[in-house]
Amino acid sequence: MSRRHLTSRQLETFATVARLGSFSRAAEALHLTQPAVSIQIRQIADSVGLPLFEQTGRDIRLTAAGHELLQTARELDDSWSRFASAIDALKGLRKGRLRVALVTTAKYFLPRMLGNFCRRYPDIDIELEVANRARIVERLRANEDDLYIMSFPPEELDVVARPFLDNPLVVIAPADYPLPAGPLTLADLVAYPFLLREAGSGTRRAIDRHLLKGGHTLNVKLSLGSNEAIRDLVATGMGLAILSRHVLGESPAQGGIRILEVEGFPLRQPWSVVHLRQKILSLPARAFMDELLPALDGAPPQGG
Ligand code: PGA
Repeated sequence: MSRRHLTSRQLETFATVARLGSFSRAAEALHLTQPAVSIQIRQIADSVGLPLFEQTGRDIRLTAAGHELLQTARELDDSWSRFASAIDALKGLRKGRLRVALVTTAKYFLPRMLGNFCRRYPDIDIELEVANRARIVERLRANEDDLYIMSFPPEELDVVARPFLDNPLVVIAPADYPLPAGPLTLADLVAYPFLLREAGSGTRRAIDRHLLKGGHTLNVKLSLGSNEAIRDLVATGMGLAILSRHVLGESPAQGGIRILEVEGFPLRQPWSVVHLRQKILSLPARAFMDELLPALDGAPPQGG
């Protein structure tokens, strides 16, 4: 089969169907009719000589040939954006698009450094995706973004990970909560109600690993997918929690929260900036890394 038979438009249509898992949603996103989308997909399948999607019930799934093509389409996209930003650099422009996906805890520091970056590169358009770790790992696996920020780079993927900032996890309580005095151990706290992040979150993963190591089980009253909601519920007196120190702002006490002194805490794991090893980084992505790594060498907020 020859590359000449495939147009970039067809590849874009194919990648959109693959991403949205539906011909009709892809047609809507691309402002095309559904038959126009189906025809393009059939033309590609004819050129490839194998079907690209298979029907499973009401859903469609990529076939092995479809997976290969999607991977290739993403690599072509990467090469093109690298080429485009190389040309921009030759022209003296610092233009382009940067896609960064980050875990929820990282969104508290990012605005600080994004401000500097945007002032320095006003012509780089930025798309940010904020989600929990499980979702960020899915995006990394599918090579959907330029860079990823998370605490536990997945061991099962071949990635480059550069740690840049500490993300301490602390135990918190309502400011006026009755607790035994003095330094505590987790064993002192197992009877109290805890609010924790949901399964799939990197924060929860760190907590579960720590509990497993110490052989403790917490009384988890509520699991939920929002750092802010947990912080605010703790402030209303609902129970204790373990959260990233970055979620609590400059002065937790003003928000009605006390950081407890608990043996083994804070749990420490740095955030890393991560990309697939095979990824060819665009100029905006490299500029972002250069901004991120030295700018955030400083210490995270400490204490309460
Ligand atoms: P989370 O991830 O937002 O999924 O809790 C935190 C992390 O990986 O540091």
